[in-house]
Amino acid sequence: MDLTLPTPEATHRFGERLARLLRAGDLVLLQGGLGAGKTTLAQGIGAGLRVRGHVASPTFIIARTHRPLGDGPWLVHVDAYRLGSLDELEALDLDTSLEESVTVVEWGEGLAEVLSDDRLEIALDRPHGGIEDGSQELVDDAPRRATVTARGDRWAGVDLEVLREGP
Ligand SMILES: Nc1ncnc2c1ncn2[C@@H]1O[C@H](COP(=O)(O)OP(=O)(O)O)[C@@H](O)[C@H]1O
Ligand SMILES: [Mg+2]
Repeated sequence: MDLTLPTPEATHRFGERLARLLRAGDLVLLQGGLGAGKTTLAQGIGAGLRVRGHVASPTFIIARTHRPLGDGPWLVHVDAYRLGSLDELEALDLDTSLEESVTVVEWGEGLAEVLSDDRLEIALDRPHGGIEDGSQELVDDAPRRATVTARGDRWAGVDLEVLREGP
């Protein structure tokens, strides 16, 4: 499933729609280079899940936990750049268990995959070039392409078309 996200707000809204599909125990891997929009998407997921706290790039920590305001799942937001190994995430003394959380991992490629066979992978990229030509494209609205791949029994039969923005 592919969709175009023209602006940061569109990426945020995509995260909110995605959150409606998510439940406790789910794993979402966000793939894409620096500035691709992974944190922006995680913020939309956090808004959709109605969790507490500001969803930001996890700095100096591997994972940040966000408690739900209602009775939905927690959000565990992981920066895989800082994750030495998978066991490290499981071994972290988090406020919540991964079973009662939606776990969103930034830059999960090649690392977090083995966390769970059931996972949603979202690759973000800039169809119109990277940031090599200057940092401006990091801040300016520029379309991102999101490619959503569902893996495992959890996602079998789930209609990802609901992730598209309505008219
Ligand atoms: N279509 C878009 N989707 C997401 N972010 C965008 C988009 N266009 C521009 N941006 C900007 O790109 C930057 C993405 O940063 P961030 O979400 O922190 O990326 P990452 O976590 O992948 O490094 C933000 O400054 C955001 O405003
Ligand atoms: Mg980030």
